[in-house]
Amino acid sequence: MIFFLHADLELQKINKFSGTNWRKNFMKIKKLFLILTAVFFGGIAMAQNSNSSKKLLIAYFSWGGNTRGIVQEIANQIRADIFEIEPKVPYSTNYNTVLKQAQEDQHKNARPELNATVKNFSEYDTIILGYPNWWASIPMPVATFLESYDFAGKTIMPFCSHGGGRFGQSISAITKLAPDAKIIQGLYVHYSGGSTLKSDIAKWLKDSEI
Ligand SMILES: Cc1cc2nc3c(=O)[nH]c(=O)nc-3n(C[C@H](O)[C@H](O)[C@H](O)COP(=O)(O)O)c2cc1C
Repeated sequence: MIFFLHADLELQKINKFSGTNWRKNFMKIKKLFLILTAVFFGGIAMAQNSNSSKKLLIAYFSWGGNTRGIVQEIANQIRADIFEIEPKVPYSTNYNTVLKQAQEDQHKNARPELNATVKNFSEYDTIILGYPNWWASIPMPVATFLESYDFAGKTIMPFCSHGGGRFGQSISAITKLAPDAKIIQGLYVHYSGGSTLKSDIAKWLKDSEI
């Protein structure tokens, strides 16, 4: 707006100018051109950054670190707050034991207590929700997380790290647990992702208008 006013004033000055000194006139036209160029590119920059006004939260659960690594790559590409979904009682670090614990949790439809809450959850527009595929669905701490907040008016962008089962049933589980959220296109990553992880994430974020 200021640019436009300034440009308009410059134009008025040029209109008043008698035309006797072509060099001065040329300088004024050059100045006007520079102002209009700045307005044009400034407008483009503002349009490109318009989505950065969305307040983003990356909330994730990770047992073995793969999902955490993907979160780090996402955080390299966008500005977002990060919240780790951690159960108060940690799962075993032993693979065979955690397999059993996770299956038991799922059969019981458990809601493991979490050790922290998101401050000012209502301020976030979009929640990027990351988790490993556990027994073809979400780990149950993610269920606790989804039931702990009001997702009305929020967008969830799910992503999962998996060992071959991609999303499994996890998207329908999330839909049931956060029925008021708008759930948009997700991203699945094989284990920690391959050499295309960076570009896969960049494309996903771009397609999701983030
Ligand atoms: C308890 C448990 C259950 C799993 N179930 C599945 C599954 O059903 N389908 C699948 O593709 N991968 C499964 N996996 C593999 C994980 O999804 C995969 O290793 C993922 O990269 C782990 O992410 P994390 O390192 O962030 O925990 C399972 C892993 C664990 C520990």
